[in-house]
Amino acid sequence: MSKMNNTENVKDQYKDDSNLSIRTRLHEKHSTNKQGFFPWLFEKYEFSKGYRILELGCGNGAQWENRIQLLPPDCILVLSDFSEGMVKIVWEKYTGLKNVLAAKVDIQNIPFPDGCFDVVIANHMLYHVPDLPRALSEVKRILKSGGKFYSATNGNGGMRPFLRNAFKKVNPELDFFTRDFSFNLQNGQKMLNQYFDEVQRCDYEDSLSVTETQDLVDWLKSTITISSYSEDDLEGLYDYFEDIRLKEGAINISKETGLFISRKRDKGMLFMSREGR
Ligand SMILES: C[S@@+](CC[C@H](N)C(=O)[O-])C[C@H]1O[C@@H](n2cnc3c(N)ncnc32)[C@H](O)[C@@H]1O
Repeated sequence: MSKMNNTENVKDQYKDDSNLSIRTRLHEKHSTNKQGFFPWLFEKYEFSKGYRILELGCGNGAQWENRIQLLPPDCILVLSDFSEGMVKIVWEKYTGLKNVLAAKVDIQNIPFPDGCFDVVIANHMLYHVPDLPRALSEVKRILKSGGKFYSATNGNGGMRPFLRNAFKKVNPELDFFTRDFSFNLQNGQKMLNQYFDEVQRCDYEDSLSVTETQDLVDWLKSTITISSYSEDDLEGLYDYFEDIRLKEGAINISKETGLFISRKRDKGMLFMSREGR
C-alpha cells in the first residue's frame, strides 16, 4: 500500500478542503482546455426526472456549484465523503436546498439498501481506497438495475512522468511519482468490467501551461501528506521550474484525465439473453 491509499494519510490530506482547493486552482488557472473539467463532466452525465443520485468522495462539492439547479425536477442528490470536514463543507454550501442531503460515507461500506440509486458518482477518489473490490461491489449493490456509475480518474502519463523527471533532475536520488495510481485510466476499464456490463472510457483532452512557478510548487506542497517528499526537496524544484518558465515562457505539462461510464445490467436484458440461447 502507498501513502495514496493509506487511510490515515488520506484522512489527514482531506480533513478540510484546503489542499484540494489549491490543486483545483492550478487547473482552473493554467489549463489549456478552456471548457473546464466540471462542465465537460456535466455533458456526460445523464439525469432524468426523479433520479436518486449519490456522489461518493464528493470533497467540497465543487462540481455542483451553479449546477444543482440544472437537475431535472424531483431529483434527490446525496453528497457524501468519509471526511467529516468535507461533509460539513457541502452541508453548509448547499444548505437550504431541499433536494440535497449530505452524509458521512466510506465507499467500502455504504449504509444504503440495495438498488436505491439511479446514478452513483465517484470522481478522483477510487485511487485512495484500500479495498477496491469491496468498494466496487458496494457501488454495484446500491445501484438500480440499468443504473449508471460515473468514475473520473487520472492516467499514469500526463503530470506524473513530468514530475518524476523533474525530481530526478534536481536530485538523482529523489524517486517520486514512480508508482501508478491504483485505479487509473489504463487499468480502470478492466477493473470495472468485473462488476458492470458496459464500461465506456471517455478522455478529456487537456494540458497545463503554467506561467507562475509558485502555483506549481504550491500544488506539490498540497500533496505532501499523500506523497513522500519534503518541503526541502521542493526548494530545488522551484529553481528548476523557474528556469524552464524563463526559457520557454511557460511550464508546459501534458495531462491525462477522463471518465468511465459503467452500467449495471438491466434485469430485463438478463432475461432476454437467457431466452435467446
Ligand atoms: C481528490 S478528492 C476528490 C473530490 C471530488 N470528488 C472532486 O473530484 O473534486 C478525494 C476525496 O475522496 C474522499 N475519500 C477518500 N477515500 C474515501 C473513502 N474510502 N470513502 C469515501 N470518500 C473517500 C476524500 O476525503 C476526498 O474528499
